Amino acid sequence: MARRSADEATTPFLKWAGGKRALLEQIRPHLPRSFGRYYEPFVGSAALFFSTTPRRATLSDTNARLVATFRGLRDATDEVIERLKRCRYNRAQYLTMRARDIDREGDAAIAAWFIYLNKTGYNGLYRVNSQNGFNVPFGRYSNPTICDEENLRACAASLRTVSILHADFERATSRARPGDFVYFDPPYVPLSATSSFTSYTADGFDHDAQLRLRDHALTLARRGVHVLVSNSSAKAVVDLYGRDFDLVTLRARRSINSKGSGRRAIAELLVKSRTF
Ligand SMILES: C[S@@+](CC[C@H](N)C(=O)[O-])C[C@H]1O[C@@H](n2cnc3c(N)ncnc32)[C@H](O)[C@@H]1O
Repeated sequence: MARRSADEATTPFLKWAGGKRALLEQIRPHLPRSFGRYYEPFVGSAALFFSTTPRRATLSDTNARLVATFRGLRDATDEVIERLKRCRYNRAQYLTMRARDIDREGDAAIAAWFIYLNKTGYNGLYRVNSQNGFNVPFGRYSNPTICDEENLRACAASLRTVSILHADFERATSRARPGDFVYFDPPYVPLSATSSFTSYTADGFDHDAQLRLRDHALTLARRGVHVLVSNSSAKAVVDLYGRDFDLVTLRARRSINSKGSGRRAIAELLVKSRTF
């Protein structure tokens, strides 16, 4: 089988709530034509990174296990693959894996744990209780691929030259320079009070955090850094960014109920600095 080189696009190795895979075609025309260093400080599954695979990049997130997973895949690719090959899809193994005290282990073990639970847990969700214990139920699939070795190796190759940080978005991007490009994809402002599932890690992302992000994005844009921000089309987002940034409306196909059976196009926003 032909090997993909690190320059070619890869598929994200994780499923992620709010992942940008389905929106890439709409986002890519808004990327700067050329840029210095690439930053993705709310990395999730890194869909935009894996579709462009820039060599000089900093990926970061506040989810420590997610960060360990990216590092483990980059630095111990063979071990992660070997561990995943030993995994089986059944409820008993899922529950045993889920209960493991994983934070005591190294990056390779955390990566295999994370990828296994992502491929076999309900809807690929990542959710923890107040003690940071992973609590997503077993997922029903006909024959899930737990170890896609070729894609895992391609993702690891794209990560080879990349810095991976466990950091808040502001610290991770504070050194961005004129001509660099930062893509912010934070937990979204809820469209209505009832759709308030914004807590991806034990710490939520509240209104103050949205405000801090806007102020930071503006500081970077004034410095000459190219900035894109994804968010919902809530009025609060227009109020936050409308004056100083350009707003582009994208059409996302999203599940509209908890069973995922109803889907329709929902507007969301791409916020662009006036530096392009
Ligand atoms: C919408 S997801 C990103 C999805 C990603 N773009 C993708 O394509 O899969 C938001 C991410 O922000 C992270 N996060 C939440 N608060 C953060 C903070 N203050 N700084 C950095 N990352 C944060 C969460 O852990 C989560 O991984």
